[in-house]
Amino acid sequence: MEPAPRFMEIFRHPTNLRSLVSKEFRDLKTNLPGPKGWPVIGSALLLKNVNTSKDSYRVFSNIGKAYDAPLFSLWFGPTKLVIYVKEAKYIERLLNHRALSWKSYFYVDIRKITKNAVFTRKGEKWERLRKPLMHFTKPKNVENFHEKIKNKIPIFCKRIESKCGTGSFNVTTMCKAWALEVFVYTSFDFDNIYTEEQLERMVHLGEKYLDHAFTDMMSLKANLGFKTFNEANCDRDLKVHADRFIELRKAQLIEQGRDLREVIDNPENYIDVVLQVGEEEGLPEGHLGLMLVDVVFGALDSPGTVMMTMMLFLAMEPEYQEKLYREQIDYFGDSLRPPEEDDLKNLPYLDMVMKEAIRLCAPPAVSRKAEEDIEIDGYHLPKGAVVAFSIDTSLNDPKYWEKPNAFYPDHFLPEAAAKREKGAYLPFATGPKMCPGQLYTYPVVKTALSVAVRQFEFETKVKYSDIEYKILLMKEVVDPQVSIKKRNP
Ligand code: HEM
Repeated sequence: MEPAPRFMEIFRHPTNLRSLVSKEFRDLKTNLPGPKGWPVIGSALLLKNVNTSKDSYRVFSNIGKAYDAPLFSLWFGPTKLVIYVKEAKYIERLLNHRALSWKSYFYVDIRKITKNAVFTRKGEKWERLRKPLMHFTKPKNVENFHEKIKNKIPIFCKRIESKCGTGSFNVTTMCKAWALEVFVYTSFDFDNIYTEEQLERMVHLGEKYLDHAFTDMMSLKANLGFKTFNEANCDRDLKVHADRFIELRKAQLIEQGRDLREVIDNPENYIDVVLQVGEEEGLPEGHLGLMLVDVVFGALDSPGTVMMTMMLFLAMEPEYQEKLYREQIDYFGDSLRPPEEDDLKNLPYLDMVMKEAIRLCAPPAVSRKAEEDIEIDGYHLPKGAVVAFSIDTSLNDPKYWEKPNAFYPDHFLPEAAAKREKGAYLPFATGPKMCPGQLYTYPVVKTALSVAVRQFEFETKVKYSDIEYKILLMKEVVDPQVSIKKRNP
């Protein structure tokens, strides 16, 4: 059991003391409405029972439900003003505000995992990695991108087949392991570099540390400035896997008879960019692998979560699964060939299914620090405040979604989508720090699901009332149990 927090510790902790006397703290005043908190600790007790990433999701969404205003203020301890934004129009406008481009202290543990990586960089240093990352995550800039995705469909289907008739199982690891293999192959040209055990290990390590970081993000102790994250363990666990990317790239270039110097000067993929930036900034060799961790975790965790969410909800909604199956069969006939890029444009229901799954599993929140005072519609957001955007609230707001809590692909019928406010569907966020992986994710996941649903039928006993979510990078169903049946040829 964690010891109960001792509130007077706030004043003994050097970071908190420094914050209390800083000018930024003295100017930290807002006219936003908000619940009346306790002296000194404000509303921090709202975070008191956060011990898991499941609690973290529950508490974050309950805070949004408890206070009925498009944006409102909370104090978590004496120096931390948090502005909770839940209305679609403000989410969109504020995420695009130039003074809200950088991440807040909520990401402190993520920084401990990813060190100098793009996710938590700032300013020019961020641009150095971000521009090339945008370039190399666009399918058209990756050599043979679609061919490579197609190449990884048989292994995915083989794993699914091996589970046919074995009863229900948690589909998470299978989906994330496949997403990892696709990413390292499409983006780094590393084919078959993992054994099954190594794939599972990578997935579990990602989950372990993301779980820890996202639990801390909403925990009382961490918000009052107490360290709970064990950085040394994290480095030890991740470094060996992260460094392997750098070693493999170097070995690949040697095998191709290429000159490392030339490739560093003219990067051909994101590993080369990291080597170049590491050299320019004089970073220790041992940091370079870890600079890839955010992108690799993003690429295994997010498309993997979309895939498992689709499997579970299609299993829960056989009518929609049948509709999706029919669309594929009407288009491809008996063939099990994977869709080409152009085919994907002619499969609207597949697109609707994927968008709806993303609505249900997108990251619930993103958070930024106000770098300047911001005025919006008479509201004052002071410099130094943390702005927490509840993307989840707008993705589940009955104002925009006919069946907010259900899996209902018709939410994305063209006429329904056209009527909806833009800020209501921002699963990849928006603004300068929005996700660079959007264009990558769609073809990868759609291509695989199109083939899988033609061969297999997903079933489950899970009901909506059983579903609980947790926050990792995405909003994940806890224990998505699915059983799989091979369709008749
Ligand atoms: C359905 C799939 C995905 C969703 C819904 C998603 C969502 C998001 C969101 C909301 C953010 C902003 C986070 C924040 O500011 O706190 C983000 C950032 C990011 N995502 Fe994704 N993501 C997805 C797939 C991917 C993929 C496939 C990759 C890697 C190829 C990726 C890599 C990243 C990176 C590196 C950032 C940080 C960018 C920066 O700070 O400049 N994501 N993602």
